[in-house]
Amino acid sequence: MSVVACIEDLRVLAKKRVPRMFYDYADSGSWSEGTYRANERDFQKLLLRQRVAVDIERRSTRTTMAGTDVAMPVAIAPTGLTGMQHADGEILAAKAAEKFGIPFTLSTMSICSIEDIAAATTRPFWFQLYVMRDRGFMARLIDRAEAARCSALMLTLDLQIVGQRHKDLRNGLSVPPKLSLRNLANMASKPRWCLGMLGTKRRNFGNVFGHVEGIDTMRSMSEWTNRQFDPTLSWEDVAWIRKRWGGRLILKGIQDVEDARLAVNSGADAVIVSNHGGRQLDGAPSSISALPAIAEAVGHRIEVHMDGGVRSGQDVLKARALGARGVYIGRPMLYGLGAMGEAGVTRALQIIHRELDLTMAFCGHTDIEKVDARVLLPSS
Ligand code: FNR
Repeated sequence: MSVVACIEDLRVLAKKRVPRMFYDYADSGSWSEGTYRANERDFQKLLLRQRVAVDIERRSTRTTMAGTDVAMPVAIAPTGLTGMQHADGEILAAKAAEKFGIPFTLSTMSICSIEDIAAATTRPFWFQLYVMRDRGFMARLIDRAEAARCSALMLTLDLQIVGQRHKDLRNGLSVPPKLSLRNLANMASKPRWCLGMLGTKRRNFGNVFGHVEGIDTMRSMSEWTNRQFDPTLSWEDVAWIRKRWGGRLILKGIQDVEDARLAVNSGADAVIVSNHGGRQLDGAPSSISALPAIAEAVGHRIEVHMDGGVRSGQDVLKARALGARGVYIGRPMLYGLGAMGEAGVTRALQIIHRELDLTMAFCGHTDIEKVDARVLLPSS
């Protein structure tokens, strides 16, 4: 196997091994993909401040996120259809996260179910919830998450309608995939993926299939989502969920200071500054550029997390410097999974951890808890 030195190497491998329909689903943003690209690019604009002649022999990246001890301030972001990047993908990613000592978040739109993850892991994981029109189904999902020992509920607020991703439209994205000649020919060129899929029964939406009308006859993902997800979602619904869920509540998809203040009033324990990985409102600012104002406005009252464009341990350090208690990785986990299954997710975490540890040292820090804005050059 070729040497995997950085997250980009995992991306290149995943592209070779995952059928185009699912690789494109992961590696795309909405419309012009401007926000998707800005998420990564804006990290590069921030410059780190090197310090020398400081004792950096013993170092620690340990901290907490939403009350959970973490080996580094990184968690796995919820991503739909993860089990289509690799057979049993959510189970493999959850196991890798558990072994590494960071939280795994399962998406509502996962292939493996809440119960599958509970059976495969021993530590509590987090569950991400979408607000759907069928409130009875949502209530049952919350109960299932509680029964499965989930310690945090992550409520996603930025996807009541779906941002168009051109590639998904062109590929006719569906689950299970439509077996058109074009798709069959493409899958036949990915034998590892095919063998994995033949070896598992988990090829449909584990949390949703059989529970929600229309999923068995869906023609396209986005059409189905637009019918099932509730565009009337308001802060009253957040209050309803806050009342029903006794554990930590994390609100995902905050980009605006005013919304961050409303999130604090809703009784949430944390907010995630996120633009859904550039998959929803194209033209929105990158997450790292939206972070400082939100951290400044509400960081003293609530934990502020961020995601979008984190591709290295240096990005983790920069986000931490700008007020994020922790970050989430979506695509780096998906690339790892598509490239090499559980070993690939572990590799992605090792790469990010090593980069974070070494960068901290170059900047003269030994404890992630003590890193603040002074680790960045003021002009950057
Ligand atoms: C996502 N994201 C997402 N978010 C969510 O709350 N529920 C979901 O089901 C999904 N599904 C999903 C699928 C795919 C393929 C991607 C790439 C992303 C958004 C995700 O949680 C996170 O916000 C971004 O992935 C962060 O950006 P990076 O790390 O991918 O750049």
